[in-house]
Amino acid sequence: AIPVITIDGPTASGKGTVAHRVADKLGFHYLDSGALYRLTALSALRRGTDLADEHALAKLAEHLQCSFQGGDVILSHENVTDAIRAEEVGNTASKIATFPSVRHALVGLQLGFRKAPGVVADGRDMGSVIFPHAALKVFLTASVAARADRRYKQLIGKGFSASMEDLLMDLQARDDRDTNRAIAPLVPAEGAHVLDTSEMTADEAVDQVLQWYAA
Ligand code: CDP
Repeated sequence: AIPVITIDGPTASGKGTVAHRVADKLGFHYLDSGALYRLTALSALRRGTDLADEHALAKLAEHLQCSFQGGDVILSHENVTDAIRAEEVGNTASKIATFPSVRHALVGLQLGFRKAPGVVADGRDMGSVIFPHAALKVFLTASVAARADRRYKQLIGKGFSASMEDLLMDLQARDDRDTNRAIAPLVPAEGAHVLDTSEMTADEAVDQVLQWYAA
């Protein structure tokens, strides 16, 4: 079977960086499932889709014309790598991710990333819903302060403006929504190794994941 490593966790926990580096080290493919929710959100915002219209949003998700090329994210021929990282897009993604039919519409796309020699999948429900038989499941966490700090640096680095106060509020709202939603709530999957990265560098977290995988 093609091996899968799942890395789930709350917003700005460093999953993306860690999952990406683990995939590089192993020569595996990388699935950024959050990007699929963000792409759906960006499409909806641009088209002016009613964000309460579950059916219309699921249709958008189902017909998403996207591809991942190197580190770039392409939506209908447009490079949206940076556009999908905007806070508004992330917040909208977290709202539409509460709709079961939106989640359902993205399942096939996610399963398609499981290709030889293996895949590292990053998200909220990779180990619990999408790849329940993964070879290794990791749940990354970090304190709210550490996560707000990381998100702040990430946004500033991409040229967005950001306020720490707003970010802290967004983060807690996002945590609440992700944790308390009825479908695929954010909790460690059965059998997941929990790793608190508040006091760790990304490389230390990567080494720990690789160690677990080798064991
Ligand atoms: O960057 P951040 O960690 O905030 O988010 P992301 O991983 O890019 O995902 C954006 C939003 O999509 C999250 O707030 C989740 O609500 C949702 N999501 C999800 O529900 N399930 C996933 N597997 C991935 C993301």
